[in-house]
Amino acid sequence: MGVERTTHDPRALKLDDPTIYERADVHRMRDVLTGFPAQCRTAAELVPIPAVTIPRPRVVLVAGMGGSASSGDLLAGCAAERLDVPVIVHRGYGLPTMAGERDLVIASSYSGDTVESLSAAEAALSRGCPLVAVTSGGRLAALARERGVPRVTLPAGLMPRMALGYLFFPLLGILKSADLHVVKAAEIDEAFSVVDALAGELHPARPTATNEAKRLARAIGDSLPVVYGGPITGTVAYRWKTDLEENAKTFAVAGVLPEMNHNEIEAWSAPLARQLSLVLLRDGEEGREIARRFGLLRELIGSGAAGVVEASTRGDSVIARLLSLASLGQWTSYYLAILRGVDPWSVPVLDALKGRMRSHH
Ligand code: F6R
Repeated sequence: MGVERTTHDPRALKLDDPTIYERADVHRMRDVLTGFPAQCRTAAELVPIPAVTIPRPRVVLVAGMGGSASSGDLLAGCAAERLDVPVIVHRGYGLPTMAGERDLVIASSYSGDTVESLSAAEAALSRGCPLVAVTSGGRLAALARERGVPRVTLPAGLMPRMALGYLFFPLLGILKSADLHVVKAAEIDEAFSVVDALAGELHPARPTATNEAKRLARAIGDSLPVVYGGPITGTVAYRWKTDLEENAKTFAVAGVLPEMNHNEIEAWSAPLARQLSLVLLRDGEEGREIARRFGLLRELIGSGAAGVVEASTRGDSVIARLLSLASLGQWTSYYLAILRGVDPWSVPVLDALKGRMRSHH
């Protein structure tokens, strides 16, 4: 990572003071983040009940919202290079018009009570699509029970966005039972060891000097993070944005190269650019053209920004690369919440909106 700000920030030591976490993180999100590798391992063993054998589909649709949709993004990222069947992530009510009985629908909702995902599951049933539910309970679990839909039951009690491992790994098994082989066993093992290493390196006990997530959070500080990824890391850039929004309660922008070179790049001439941090998500396999574009981006807009930081994927396989970067984003948004003095766990406005929507039913 290249952090280009070395000012003597009075908050510099804040993240290395162990007492800050007791005060600022009362729900102990740090324990959930530290347990991410264990979560991934447990999740890889979770299978649908009753067991499924699904005919090879024309399209895979992962229907979910927020944290429960980003597992679909990871799946699509892993599948893009390997499958001849598209994986489409559907965020919203119902299903796209094209969805029919030759398509596999996975309804993903950690709580099981997200109305958009429930409506997607209903649409799948009424159109005769093979359907699998991935949830910890709620109305989606009830619907699965009543209608005989195979269901992967996830351990409950987490915030959905903290359940990325639980939500993601079972998708690989579901696709496998539809004759779609997204990852090899060795690649899953590599992903486990990459997230193992990160859990140690990014833990609060690791001082800022050697803790990449703390350094990234400090570099972002009070600025507004603008996170750009490339062809592989683009969907993870979006995940960084949502983690920054929900955990650190900050606005964040996400974009993808090369597309942003054709539009958003121009917005950096606005005075607001001085308050923005450019966060570049790099990947060893991004290719020469994309690497050049990242370099040019630094030159053309980096000097006008509040700061420029880079983070990179780890590992060889796509699954390890995407998970490592998503994990770094989770920790970075966590430390930013601590720095800014906000509770990383609770999402009161999001909860209020869900409650108000329910009360009108
Ligand atoms: C909250 C979070 C949200 C939820 C979303 C959908 O931690 O990440 O983005 O994921 O509101 O809820 P679920 O995942 O329960 O279907």
